[in-house]
Amino acid sequence: MKTLLIANWKMHYGPIKAGGWIRAFRRERLPKDVDIAVAVPHVSLAAARSSLGRASIPALCAQDVFWADDGAFTGEISASMLTEFGAQYCLVGHSERRLHLGETDEMVAKKASALQKANIIPVICVGETEAQQKRGEALKVLRQQTTAAISQLASASKTPFVFAYEPVWAIGTGKACPAQKAKEAHEVVRAVIAKKMGDTTAQQVRILYGGSVDVHNIVEYMTTTGVNGALVGGASLDPRTFGLLCRTAIPS
Ligand code: PGA
Repeated sequence: MKTLLIANWKMHYGPIKAGGWIRAFRRERLPKDVDIAVAVPHVSLAAARSSLGRASIPALCAQDVFWADDGAFTGEISASMLTEFGAQYCLVGHSERRLHLGETDEMVAKKASALQKANIIPVICVGETEAQQKRGEALKVLRQQTTAAISQLASASKTPFVFAYEPVWAIGTGKACPAQKAKEAHEVVRAVIAKKMGDTTAQQVRILYGGSVDVHNIVEYMTTTGVNGALVGGASLDPRTFGLLCRTAIPS
């Protein structure tokens, strides 16, 4: 299965800086046989697309979407709008949206389904908070979030879906999740998919790890069974650092 590495800028880089990042990253020597994407703020999608020109690397990833096609939803953006920018991926259910904007499992499911219908690959983020981990509820939370997220997805769709396991306590803290623990979490997510959608689908789903991934620990995740890539926040803000991270992840 092809590794997927996604840079997640979060709320950084408007159109001017986005163009600069893309141009700088395009100058990096990149490994082959890996999918690389960059999750940019909506407002910077057009600039990122025009800086890319005809190039397809990195692929564009949106950071969120609304589930309806169009209508009276002030401030929202639909999947069909994202296709106009050539977005191939879109994050859904990032913990920052779940925590700060009250995004629920049901909303995440509707968003993932809308993306799949529009042929955009949903990258569904799941993961427990520190409090849930301390209460020993991590795997229960993962099962719940995963079950809900796939409830409206079609296993036979030509558009695959991707999961990202991101323990909230590891995001932006420098406290990356030990690879063994991540492996266990990935197995739980895959087992839920297998139960609901069958083994074949479950084996094809890429599950990324996210949470304080950097150039020093990326190899550990890449060599862990069941970890099929990474969602990288802080260590992706500098295009050269992210380029180095990609080369380190997949040494040529
Ligand atoms: P981080 O963020 O790499 O800065 O921890 C990851 C993410 O939230 O996607």
